[in-house]
Amino acid sequence: MTERPRVVIAGGTVIDAAGERAADVAVGRDGMIAAVEQGLASAAGGRDRVLDARGCVVAPGLVDLHTHLRQPGGEQAETVESGSRAAVLGGFCAVVAMPNTDPAIDCAAVVREVQELGRAALCRVEVAGAITVDRAGERLAPLGEMAALGVRLFTDDGAGVQDAAVMRRALEYATDLGVRLAQHCEIDSLAAGGHMHEGEWSSRLGIPGICAEAEEIMVMRDVALSRLTGAPVHFQHLSTAGSVAIVEAARRSGVAVTAEVAPHHFTLTDECCASYDARFKVNPPLRPREDVAAVRAALVRGSLDAIATDHAPHTSDAKDRPFEEAPPGMLGLETALALALTELKLPPAEVLALLSWQPAAIAGIDDTHGGPVEAGRPANLCVFDPAAHWTPDDSGGASRSRNTPYAGRRLRGRVRHTLVAGEPVVIDGEAQR
Ligand code: DOR
Repeated sequence: MTERPRVVIAGGTVIDAAGERAADVAVGRDGMIAAVEQGLASAAGGRDRVLDARGCVVAPGLVDLHTHLRQPGGEQAETVESGSRAAVLGGFCAVVAMPNTDPAIDCAAVVREVQELGRAALCRVEVAGAITVDRAGERLAPLGEMAALGVRLFTDDGAGVQDAAVMRRALEYATDLGVRLAQHCEIDSLAAGGHMHEGEWSSRLGIPGICAEAEEIMVMRDVALSRLTGAPVHFQHLSTAGSVAIVEAARRSGVAVTAEVAPHHFTLTDECCASYDARFKVNPPLRPREDVAAVRAALVRGSLDAIATDHAPHTSDAKDRPFEEAPPGMLGLETALALALTELKLPPAEVLALLSWQPAAIAGIDDTHGGPVEAGRPANLCVFDPAAHWTPDDSGGASRSRNTPYAGRRLRGRVRHTLVAGEPVVIDGEAQR
């Protein structure tokens, strides 16, 4: 190391895809990792900032494949800035912003607008483009012009592409462009009018339900379309035992599908809706215990690729409405890592695979994100204490919204420092701007 470092992360355990070792991490003024070895902190001069990482894991920053930042059009609920602050407080160095904004991110002009906002954000903001114009499922959006601006992931999230021929054509274009399509799996005609999972609890509560098959039939269809076109499909927020089984079988037969699960689908059940509290309303809906167990088991087996937050801020005005009138969605960025550490009982490296390097590869940003933690790589790093306990409150944290279902739930694992491109944006749990 020739130059004086900007920051030294001292006394932690470095964990990346290559393994685990005790080491300090020096970060240079160019935003790159300068050295990873023991004893850097004691060599650091007085002007170097030393971040205490004793008892902590020093990992590649987390990458969220599924974040609603609500800009443009939904600024009362979230902005790119407020969402990115929640992201870094949750250990995320990069998020993929969903295109169900107003207007939708379905052309070069809106992509540019969100990219511009992203440049001032606390973390990297990757923009997902819509597959169809206005996410209406009818005409293909100009995927090529968005891909030319660097968009690598396309989805109509908030809705699935209903027409199989439109999805097939989109997959063929995606192959030519070298981009990936992601699907929100939901057959509208089956889900119409539903507000929670269709089952025992929806009957008891008298709330119209959405059957598991509304999701599973589209997963099945898109496995077939992936096989037909040879194009990869990424499945968003899978929530049922059936979906997981379909994906596992498809992968065994060599179909190029990947899948993510949201934290609420391995931590909450449809029984939560008995409170009639719309903070438990989400889409896909919370499922029964057996589905939650199946999703969890698949994560533990390593047969799914990512945990993605589906961070979906909504104003209190919207969420305080009666269950059937409130919009679906819950906050997720600041609690995802702790929920995974608390509930999955996996070693930290396996949790990090699901939250960092595997999603980085799916987002196509593994050249700069997801590690490895070694000299010469960009310093996108998350430092967390895997043993620290904390309890989220109902303030919603840094989000402009407060719709967390986890207020009062005791969690284990807390983010201490986050560095984005070498800048310490969170120090000792406090955002620095
Ligand atoms: O619960 C959800 N909320 N599911 C979605 O697919 C969309 C999201 C939102 O944008 O609020």
